[in-house]
Amino acid sequence: MDTNETVVLGIESSCDDTAAAIVAGGRLRSSVISSQLVHAGFGGVVPELASRAHQRLIVPVVEQALKEAGVTKGDLDAVAVTYGPGLAGSLLVGLSFAKAYAFALDVPLVGVNHLEGHVYSVFIEPPVPAFPFLCLVVSGGHTQLVLVEEGFRHTTLGRTRDDAAGEAFDKVAKLLDLGYPGGPRIDALAREGDPSFHTFPRSRPGGLDFSFSGLKTSVLYYLNAFSEAERTALLEAHLPDLCAAFQQAVVDVLIDAVRRALHETGVRHLAIVGGVSANTALRAAADDLAEAEGVTLHVPRLAHCMDNAAMIAVTGRVKLAAGQTSPLTLTAEPNLNLT
Ligand code: KG4
Ligand code: ZN
Repeated sequence: MDTNETVVLGIESSCDDTAAAIVAGGRLRSSVISSQLVHAGFGGVVPELASRAHQRLIVPVVEQALKEAGVTKGDLDAVAVTYGPGLAGSLLVGLSFAKAYAFALDVPLVGVNHLEGHVYSVFIEPPVPAFPFLCLVVSGGHTQLVLVEEGFRHTTLGRTRDDAAGEAFDKVAKLLDLGYPGGPRIDALAREGDPSFHTFPRSRPGGLDFSFSGLKTSVLYYLNAFSEAERTALLEAHLPDLCAAFQQAVVDVLIDAVRRALHETGVRHLAIVGGVSANTALRAAADDLAEAEGVTLHVPRLAHCMDNAAMIAVTGRVKLAAGQTSPLTLTAEPNLNLT
């Protein structure tokens, strides 16, 4: 199949974003994301509400993606869809829709691992990395250092032993009453803060693995050491400083592991992907690291860091070209791993 001409619809519904995108002629033509607002008052994603919202949103979101790309469903050559990991009910909505669409249009279905989608988000637009590259996947559910070779060959060099980096941002944001998702709020506040205000622990559990639950607990203990009145005064005066100090601890741990992985592997290309790759301090530290190490750095634009369907369409296009299509019996895999 001539993939330069193929038109692929990508669908993503693994968590609380309903998204669809079109890749045609090797270029991203549209990317529509409808972020669900129903979870705002709950301090996290409510699975049952998420699947119901996906059901309401999936048809209009796909229609919008087709319209913005200037294509019709008859132009589609394949339907790519996230089949895991994620919330079972949410995955099922996107997957069932994609299967029905592919079956009705008589085009191949391409199942995409959401984490693979994040890895290949650096291929949405040029400059794309050369193989092999080192990829730090930092999202709400995963923190993983992966060596990526051509042909979807991945070797995990390190992963979190407890919380993911994004989860640490979200949990600390909850402790600080900042709402969900916490990462963007902490990032914004930290820009006005002083990271040297307090030194939170940098955990190194062994090898290239990560651990963030101790950091979260140390923020909790730090706050609990104050009386209620003192804490209120502290947060009034130093909330940005606390955010900056916590964020710096996360960034230091991530960058330290990436530096060691670059040295150990000798790989010359680095990618940082997933929701936390939107973080201002992490992006700045990654720039400095890449310059110091003389490696090329690939970080997606902000819209492609968080969950989106452009990454699913792009990954689907590469899989389709490699003949890696899926049967219509494909099932949702909530606990799917990258490797
Ligand atoms: O990749 P993603 O959109 O969803 C998952 O696959 O999990 O990542 C979401 C995570 C959330 O934990 C969110 O707080 C975090 O990414 N995040 C950030 C920022 N933007 C999103 N963390 C730190 N700084 C940010 N600017
Ligand atoms: Zn994600």
